[in-house]
Amino acid sequence: MDRNLTEREKFARKMTDILNMGAINLAMGIGYKVGLFDIMDTMDDPASSRQIAEKSGLSQRYIEEWLGVMVTGGVVAVSRADDHMLQYHLPKTHGDFLTRRSGNNNLGVYTQEIPLLGLSASAGVLNGFKTGEGVAYESYREFQAFMSELADAKHRQVLVNTFLPSVAGGEVVSRLKQGIKVCDLGCGQGVAVRLMAQAYPQSEFLGLDISEEAIVRASADAKQEGLSNLEFQCADAAGLFYFDSFRDRFDYITAFDSIHDQTRPLEALQSVHHMLRADGFFSMVDIAASSDLSKNLDHPMGPFLYTVSLMHCMPVGLVDGGSGLGMMWGREKALDMLADAGFSDIQVTSIPEDSFNDHFLCRK
Ligand SMILES: C[S@@+](CC[C@H](N)C(=O)[O-])C[C@H]1O[C@@H](n2cnc3c(N)ncnc32)[C@H](O)[C@@H]1O
Repeated sequence: MDRNLTEREKFARKMTDILNMGAINLAMGIGYKVGLFDIMDTMDDPASSRQIAEKSGLSQRYIEEWLGVMVTGGVVAVSRADDHMLQYHLPKTHGDFLTRRSGNNNLGVYTQEIPLLGLSASAGVLNGFKTGEGVAYESYREFQAFMSELADAKHRQVLVNTFLPSVAGGEVVSRLKQGIKVCDLGCGQGVAVRLMAQAYPQSEFLGLDISEEAIVRASADAKQEGLSNLEFQCADAAGLFYFDSFRDRFDYITAFDSIHDQTRPLEALQSVHHMLRADGFFSMVDIAASSDLSKNLDHPMGPFLYTVSLMHCMPVGLVDGGSGLGMMWGREKALDMLADAGFSDIQVTSIPEDSFNDHFLCRK
């Protein structure tokens, strides 16, 4: 049937899909935030909106309208009970991707991302289109908290169990067990570095981030967890290059999605080179994409990632005349920049449990 559609008709259909998908994403983000997917995931049998309201403690009327989106959007199944009332069921196969039990498969957490960016950054980005100016990190308060939630979903099941053991064929883990010095650059609220510090008590860890708010929160969480082998410092990664106290200080440095939105990414990588011991390793984990837009046409998350970049990564990278690389700077540009920063041995591998990112393992 589709074969007979004109280009104009096909695009009209695509526009309908776009409007519907955007709307479903918004409603899913709200459902995820208030915990409706988690609640429905625990209900084995189809349930009425009243039962879902009772179990969640949320308004039945709001739930009914939300279910309208979920049912017409193909997320929740609907059927009629013996008393003819509608009843709803979240299939387990859908819950596997939408709930807080989903771990690294949790795509539900991402449904909050675009709506939150709209809330935080629309005015700044609209202004940026006219002036070319960036948007300061401070505009993204709610988004920063969300990033920490995302980091938890990303790192908790994977970082210590599968990612670190894969680095340099297990050599980094053997060194971590013996006791080495590790720095996590752009650590945000410290989820990844806290997990590493817990797993390897013999090693000493430093979490660095430019955001004072993130560092305060990270330090408080580390204190609560009683981690004595972990410190945090608020610093601009690009400036560490100038400090002798940072020269050759670390055996292993990590940067999880934290290079592409820096205003001076080359200087940040030069700092990493300066901070790393001669036999050390640097793991840069960054978005898996090409620097050439025409090679990203089949990227499964292309529009999503370019939107996140437009609304966050690029504008924060443009602040104070910064480079504004954007999240989709891509493999080729990353390799050039790592080489310019002085790294001579760089291996790029995909990360099986993390389809969003590539792993750039670098040595001096
Ligand atoms: C996308 S977040 C990633 C956070 C964390 N690494 C994770 O895996 O969730 C990027 C982080 O880089 C930090 N950042 C940006 N520019 C920086 C700079 N110049 N120096 C240090 N950190 C910076 C931001 O504050 C933010 O916490």
